Amino acid sequence: MSGFPAYRPRRLRRTEALRRLVRETRVVPEQLVQPLFVVPGRGVEKPIGSMPGVSQLSADRAAEEARRLADVGVPAVILFGIPEAKDARGTGAVAADGIVPRALDAIAKAAPALVRITDVCLCEYTDHGHCGVVVNGDVDNDATLDLLADEALAHARAGADMVAPSDMMDGRVGRIRAALDAHGFAELPIMSYAAKQASAFYGPFREAAESAPKFGDRRSYQMDPANAEEALREVALDVAEGADIVMVKPALPCLDLVRRVKERFGYPVAAYQVSGEFAMIKAAAARGWIDETRVVDETLTAIRRAGADIVITYFARDVAGRRR
Ligand code: PBG
Repeated sequence: MSGFPAYRPRRLRRTEALRRLVRETRVVPEQLVQPLFVVPGRGVEKPIGSMPGVSQLSADRAAEEARRLADVGVPAVILFGIPEAKDARGTGAVAADGIVPRALDAIAKAAPALVRITDVCLCEYTDHGHCGVVVNGDVDNDATLDLLADEALAHARAGADMVAPSDMMDGRVGRIRAALDAHGFAELPIMSYAAKQASAFYGPFREAAESAPKFGDRRSYQMDPANAEEALREVALDVAEGADIVMVKPALPCLDLVRRVKERFGYPVAAYQVSGEFAMIKAAAARGWIDETRVVDETLTAIRRAGADIVITYFARDVAGRRR
């Protein structure tokens, strides 16, 4: 590499056309996934206070939103269901006519080409708000696995295009893979929340999904944010158990992990720009302290530059709409 003055980096920054020509990283709608929160009822659109512009939607409204997303070029949604009733074992999660199966059906009719991913977890369905069955005050790993497999199967039978286990139980990817294979869904991909941290950035989501734990926290099953080597072991386990796409979550606080997972495994990597990341941008922008559009573009570019192939973001619709 030659030095100054033979090489002047500013030569290629002189116009937007030149900058575009040499731009290394692009954020395109084809890589974005929009999360949707689905609730029982008809015509329901209930705004989430800590997530401006995001609402809980009944299946009919979710279907309308799905059509709008498809129109602007967002290829995929990930569904979170909030059931009419919760209980200790999260029975609503495995119901064939549960909230997610109903939404899958409505969305398939409204936007047939949209990829419908479902979040597989019990926290929205349990009355205690934990991601599994509680035994003696703690989440019992092995007792939770069959429930998760049944939930994934219920989603598969209702037409899900991909399932995404987010519970962080050990062994769940393998158990879900085996259940899907045994019931004719060998071709259905799994996107595992592989390196999912016990993060304070999920705060607004728990309002959106009505899933805050009633006691304790999730640190006995979600990862310690301090551990990168362990994150790589988590990813290795999920890959060995049959995950097709591995996710790092949250996104901006974990760019180092996104990069290392991409380099180490070479698998498709998803990064989830979570509710707290979204809320911080919205809150600062509402005060005029930052430029929302530019900050959104900059964060999504950073997540892509770190190595994410797929970005799950509450900004997906806005970003895709702007590119039209
Ligand atoms: C369910 C789940 C959570 C998120 C995705 N799936 C919440 C949690 O683990 O407490 C968080 C997403 C977000 O904050 O946007 N377990």
